[in-house]
Amino acid sequence: PTPEGPRLCAGRAAGQVYRRRVSGYLDDCTCDVETIDKFNNYRLFPRLQKLLESDYFRYYKVNLKKPCPFWNDINQCGRRDCAVKPCHSDEVPDGIKSASYKYSEEANRIEECEQAERLGAVDESLSEETQKAVLQWTKHDDSSDSFCEIDDIQSPDAEYVDLLLNPERYTGYKGPDAWRIWSVIYEENCFKPQTIQRPLASGQGKSKENTFYNWLEGLCVEKRAFYRLISGLHASINVHLSARYLLQDTWLEKKWGHNVTEFQQRFDGILTEGEGPRRLKNLYFLYLIELRALSKVLPFFERPDFQLFTGNKVQDAENKALLLEILHEIKSFPLHFDENSFFAGDKNEAHKLKEDFRLHFRNISRIMDCVGCFKCRLWGKLQTQGLGTALKILFSEKLIANMPESGPSYEFQLTRQEIVSLFNAFGRISTSVRELENFRHLLQNVH
Ligand SMILES: *[C@@H]1O[C@H](CO)[C@@H](O)[C@H](O)[C@H]1NC(C)=O
Ligand SMILES: *[C@@H]1O[C@H](CO)[C@@H](O)[C@H](O)[C@H]1NC(C)=O
Repeated sequence: PTPEGPRLCAGRAAGQVYRRRVSGYLDDCTCDVETIDKFNNYRLFPRLQKLLESDYFRYYKVNLKKPCPFWNDINQCGRRDCAVKPCHSDEVPDGIKSASYKYSEEANRIEECEQAERLGAVDESLSEETQKAVLQWTKHDDSSDSFCEIDDIQSPDAEYVDLLLNPERYTGYKGPDAWRIWSVIYEENCFKPQTIQRPLASGQGKSKENTFYNWLEGLCVEKRAFYRLISGLHASINVHLSARYLLQDTWLEKKWGHNVTEFQQRFDGILTEGEGPRRLKNLYFLYLIELRALSKVLPFFERPDFQLFTGNKVQDAENKALLLEILHEIKSFPLHFDENSFFAGDKNEAHKLKEDFRLHFRNISRIMDCVGCFKCRLWGKLQTQGLGTALKILFSEKLIANMPESGPSYEFQLTRQEIVSLFNAFGRISTSVRELENFRHLLQNVH
């Protein structure tokens, strides 16, 4: 048996049941996809948009100047549409700047400890209890929780970006540089066997494609899931770029809007030789994974001492109420993905697989520092961090051990950056699902 074989893998049967459930899409819509559409477009999407417009969620601290760890990134893409305008420091509410962890007493304490630690080893003047907390927190950092390379947001290079003023849309970033990013992500990081090429682009024959999908089918549910998450993210980003395409670019006016041709080239079943509908299914898969993570993390946000702290008391309370309303709505969704089928088999093998999964994903988060176009880098980092946070939630044993009766243990923490990216990333996929409906209408008019 090769390490790629299904033997290593757990929960295969459950995965197959799941696959059958989604597979109706675009052949003949199953009601399941319709359920997702209805649930998302009418119940979740509007409220989520409102939440994401709030101060807490619109300011994202990010380091866009980290060098690419894998190759010399010469291409810094001079296009205007790639530029990201960081915030002036007086634009960002003081509450956000001063207290990136200020949502619980404990987290505050931990931040103090972290600072102490940066100043050198554990500061002798700290109380014994605090020293212990420092060590614990360090361990927590090193532990297997994190799926992303953590940005050092204390770095002088890290800046606040107003996400509302820097929307994800078509930038013209394509060609070899953009191509290289995705191909590295697919080719080097998706448990790919050496001998089979993934049908990333056009110009590859049917037989190669079938070999790829046969291979994919033979994988265990976890490895296949990894591929599908990446593919879903790729699809989601392409839906946005097609929906906010630069339609008109004169010195008088720039206009962004739906480009049906672009959408068809990426997703039409015939034009893409079947690849497009698969991409869209993967988008729904990604949606369900993040949805499940959000339903699972509800008790963390329900803690009485949790705040979406910006310093504006009234607004903060309203925001928290809206956030909880959204999470309760999510929890009520009837078709939740069952992550218990993941990493469920033999303990040692499951552990190894999970570790692999995590390392590969971390690598993908590092690759985002190689994206030449800053606008794309911003949204790429945000969306991979959001997905990484969702995976951290789904696979956190700290959370699992205490669910569902007693709520998550206080050991489980999310930073403000993780929270902002989690909800914004989900907001992007939610927008994609909404946009699919728009494109369906537009396509009806075309034919
Ligand atoms: C739409 O996208 C296609 C490429 O897919 C491009 O050739 C065309 O010019 C775009 N249409 C507009 C109005 O920009
Ligand atoms: C991480 O990505 C780099 C660059 O693509 C690659 O060389 C390396 O093998 C990858 N490592 C893992 C663990 O995927």
